[in-house]
Parts: sequence; C-alpha cells; structure tokens
Amino acid sequence: MKTQYYTASSLDGFIATQDDSLEWLFTLGTPSESSYPEFIAEVGAIAMGSVTYEWIQRNAEKAQAEAGSSWPYAQPTWVFTKRSLEAVPGADIRFFSGDAATAHAEMRVASQGKNIWIVGGGDLAGQFYDAGLLDEIIVQLGAVTLGQGKSLLPRRILSPALRLTAVRQMGDRMVELRFEVRKPCA
Ligand SMILES: NC(=O)c1ccc[n+]([C@@H]2O[C@H](COP(=O)([O-])OP(=O)(O)OC[C@H]3O[C@@H](n4cnc5c(N)ncnc54)[C@H](OP(=O)(O)O)[C@@H]3O)[C@@H](O)[C@H]2O)c1
Repeated sequence: MKTQYYTASSLDGFIATQDDSLEWLFTLGTPSESSYPEFIAEVGAIAMGSVTYEWIQRNAEKAQAEAGSSWPYAQPTWVFTKRSLEAVPGADIRFFSGDAATAHAEMRVASQGKNIWIVGGGDLAGQFYDAGLLDEIIVQLGAVTLGQGKSLLPRRILSPALRLTAVRQMGDRMVELRFEVRKPCA
C-alpha cells in the first residue's frame, strides 16, 4: 500500500493557472499510453482539497462525458475543507478538516490495502509529505509553460532528494516521471 501524489503539471511546475483553469492541460490532448487505467485500479481511497473538489463540480459535464458519471471516482474521497460544502449525490465523500495524519489513518482503513491517491492541490500533497506519509510522486509533465499558477509541490525537498524510478514517454507532448519519496534517516 502506497500513498501517491499523481498529477499533471506544466513544464515549469504548475498544476493549474492562478484562477484554477486546466484548459492548458486539455490543449495537450488525450495522452497516448496513459498510466491512469492501471493507476486508478490500485487506488482504494482518495484525498483532495476543496478547490479541486469545486473544480470537479464546475466541470461535471466533462466527467460525465469521460467517465459516464458527474462524479468520476468510485473510491471513498476525503475532501479537505473548513467550510460546509455540498456533497455530490451518490458519491462517497467525507468532508474533513484537520491534519493529514488523522485523515491518513482513516483512509488506510477504508482503502483495505490498496493505494491512497492524493489528487491535489500541491499544498495538500505537501501536508502529507510533511507528515512523512507520502511515498511516491507521479507527475505527467506537459510540453507547455504557464509562467505562474498553482504550484506542483510548494515545498523544499533537498535532502534526501527524491529518487527517480521511472520515465515514460506519452506521445510527443508529455512525459511521466515517477519519484520515490525517500524518508530521512532516523
Ligand atoms: N493538473 C492536475 O492534474 C491537477 C490535479 C489536481 C488539482 N488540480 C487543480 O489545481 C488547483 C489546486 O488548487 P489549490 O492548490 O488552491 O487547492 P486545493 O488543495 O484543491 O484546495 C485548497 C483548500 O483546501 C482546504 N484545505 C487544505 N488543507 C486543509 C486541511 N488540512 N484542513 C481543512 N481544509 C484544508 C482549504 O480550503 P477551505 O477550508 O477554504 O475549503 C484550502 O484553501 C485546482 O484548480 C485544481 O483543479 C490540477
């Protein structure tokens, strides 16, 4: 069982524009040889921040077209928020406010031995990293730059550095990089 941050990023390290647009990502087209089907098959629980949750709700039609449902995930999903948000009817959504370690303990139980996916944003992935709970970062880097936006991972990770474990070309506009998060020596 791994806790994985799986996301797409511009070449200069942004997962969305400052105003939460992902249009730049869609201009890259559907990547050939996507790892998503094999990735999602191994996921047992999901975490996301409220801005990501609200983005999915605003773009429910896209999810409907691609996944056949306005909510794209079958797995129980922890939505981090201090606000009172509306749930999506029929979706297993658990609104959560607090520290990543507490949520992670609940998610471990729910995931029944499968992986935990941190969808984003970057700071939420950083909260799991800070708690020593992030095992892997899988990022599809697109052949575009944004100049500014929402950071892929707003943390300094210097020592130990991440360990690159796999590189996979996805057509001519994307490359997927996999990094193991190495734990500091005790
Ligand atoms: N490129 C990709 O593949 C990809 C993947 C994922 C997301 N995205 C996009 O990236 C952007 C991410 O935006 P973001 O980084 O601003 O936000 P985010 O992580 O989606 O949401 C941040 C918000 O979550 C809540 N939150 C975070 N930690 C919390 C905690 N410990 N307890 C309680 N609440 C907590 C806070 O909001 P409140 O308390 O105010 O609700 C916080 O402002 C979105 O536009 C999303 O669509 C892109």
